[in-house]
Amino acid sequence: MSNPAEPRPITLAVPKGRILKVLVPLLGKAGISAEGLLGDDRRLVRESDDGRVRFLLLKPDDVPTYVEYGSADLGVVGRDTLLERNYELYQPVDLQVGKCRMVVAARIGSRIPQVPRVATKYPRIAQKYFASRGVQAEVILVQGSVELAPVTGLADLIVDLVETGSTLRENGLEERETVCSISSLLVANRALFKLHHERIAPLVDGLRQAINGGVRNG
Ligand code: PRP
Repeated sequence: MSNPAEPRPITLAVPKGRILKVLVPLLGKAGISAEGLLGDDRRLVRESDDGRVRFLLLKPDDVPTYVEYGSADLGVVGRDTLLERNYELYQPVDLQVGKCRMVVAARIGSRIPQVPRVATKYPRIAQKYFASRGVQAEVILVQGSVELAPVTGLADLIVDLVETGSTLRENGLEERETVCSISSLLVANRALFKLHHERIAPLVDGLRQAINGGVRNG
């Protein structure tokens, strides 16, 4: 962590990828011009136009780690990541973007055995969900293209995110149960939030207002 006495911009860790397209307009509404985040280059550290906010571009799963260890004051994290792993983070705002659902899906019309094999990127969420339903499941960790697992016979079921439903449809799968709703949350390092409250709180409040429909100037 850098010297707390040293003035520095607020550091916001953001996930690379499609979420940036909805995050940038939201930041804009909160008075933070972050168009630079959409630039097509390889810089992993970028700044808002006014230099007030420094952005770290990270793999989604790494965002909470940077915030927890204080390399970033704030971060944007999917609820799926927060549910899957244990983090000691303050969660002041649900940003209401990146909305999707965590579901259980299977091949259309397939019969599910009593002890199903379940492929997922989210073993903890899956294990907890099936345990809560009294189902003993064998959970298999896969890192992506999860929909392939039932198609190839690796698993009977998957637990995965669904946004438009196209990936399920195009691979002959159907949703069987909904596990929970997912969206992106603003998270904060608890110690830094207290220490730099005067600088961080207006940004958090600005985002909160932006979500509730208000527009902030400056
Ligand atoms: C995610 C998710 C689904 C898909 C759902 O995968 O794991 O596969 O998006 O979106 P849809 O309902 O709009 O089709 P992602 O694109 O992140 O790639 P991955 O398979 O490598 O995880």
